[in-house]
Amino acid sequence: MYNMSICTIKFSTNILQPRMVVARLSCRLKNGSVGIGHCTKVPRNANMEKLQHGYLFPEIERHEVMHLEKYPHANIIDLGIGDTTEPLPTIVTTSMVDFVHGLSTRKGYKGYGPEQGEKALRKEITDVFYKDLGIKPTEVFVSDGAQCDITRLQLLMGPNLKIAVQDPSFPAYIDSSVIIGRAGEFVDKAGKYKNIEYMKCGPQTNFFPDLSTTSRPDIIFFCSPNNPTGHAATRKQLEQLVDFAKVNGSIIIFDSAYSAYITDDSPKSIFEIPGAREVAIEVSSFSKFAGFTGVRLGWTVIPEELLYSNGFPVVHDFNRIVCTCFNGASNIAQAGGLACLSSKGFRAVKSLAAYYMENARILVNALGSLGLTVYGGKNAPYVWVHFPGSKSWNVFAEILEKTHMITVPGSGFGPGGEEYIRISAFGPRQSIIEASQRLKHLLYQEDN
Ligand code: MLT
Repeated sequence: MYNMSICTIKFSTNILQPRMVVARLSCRLKNGSVGIGHCTKVPRNANMEKLQHGYLFPEIERHEVMHLEKYPHANIIDLGIGDTTEPLPTIVTTSMVDFVHGLSTRKGYKGYGPEQGEKALRKEITDVFYKDLGIKPTEVFVSDGAQCDITRLQLLMGPNLKIAVQDPSFPAYIDSSVIIGRAGEFVDKAGKYKNIEYMKCGPQTNFFPDLSTTSRPDIIFFCSPNNPTGHAATRKQLEQLVDFAKVNGSIIIFDSAYSAYITDDSPKSIFEIPGAREVAIEVSSFSKFAGFTGVRLGWTVIPEELLYSNGFPVVHDFNRIVCTCFNGASNIAQAGGLACLSSKGFRAVKSLAAYYMENARILVNALGSLGLTVYGGKNAPYVWVHFPGSKSWNVFAEILEKTHMITVPGSGFGPGGEEYIRISAFGPRQSIIEASQRLKHLLYQEDN
């Protein structure tokens, strides 16, 4: 007879995982081990066990829920996750609505589309974002968002590669590297995974890594404008990066999700840099540029010249991955995407970006007037605030407790984010003004 065994499960008590802690408390057995009834014989993916805590943004959301339980009437201002809040321009929604109505007609109905995306949209992406940069529509893969493409790229590259990330950086690069089995053990003391190269990108080095001390990676994740610091890499910095990749035979995965927010002459695409076609992939998104965080639409560019060590083109393998793991982006979202790229639609979505950048300016001014050192807010709607000597989770908790405001602790983006918090400027204007006042009030009080 099958023996109903009691499983022993190792749970982390890390502060970020109270849900699991709850499970542990409710399942603690008399002998001190932990059990939840019948176990299959399937071992847990050892890579999943290496993850140190839940994904950053749901964890932040959980703190918000706990705060609301404590203060049910609190008027919370959420400037945590970079989620857009302004309504979509009608030219964009009308296009999606028309498409949807067409779906209920024999003539307009459409089932599966090309996995790589509608031809017209691939072409429009090259014309609008890569004009004169030599990108062909066949090198563009339309997707359901940059974050999903990052994971598909991890699958493409496989587990046995050495990666480098900016520190701090968007947490999906590291977490998906852990899941694919590339990160090695977590070293508690350093707060880093052993096999990942953390390229420190702080104000001391103008938010660019010291490449002379960076050991050779296979893959370099690089985000510009950077999330969370808001720094847009200069042309010179990107030339150095491309040069470094070329010399080391590395591939850059360049995340340009925030490029629409660049206000100076920093490059908006890695393909503006000569030689990048041989060393870089670019992932990008309609989320932040057009307010499509919920609609879901993004793209990845893989130039034909990008080759593996055996001379095989990366683009062919990515095409294989996309056809196997993805059925193509929603055709409704693609209809909206096409409308964003029409001249009228483009002007309309650009005005959304200007709105969020004005929010950023308000936040930067408010925090700067308190004598705080503030970065970002110039080429990206993220404001990166330094609290020297403080733990970022403590600053996050204090701001939440005393102002009912959600921010993001900098260390959630890597050890290089310690002492910082990130404030998103994607909120409604009134919330930004109110948040600035609450912060002024809190920080002024602390000073006096
Ligand atoms: C953020 O940093 O807030 C993220 O970009 C959210 C996301 O995954 O889009």
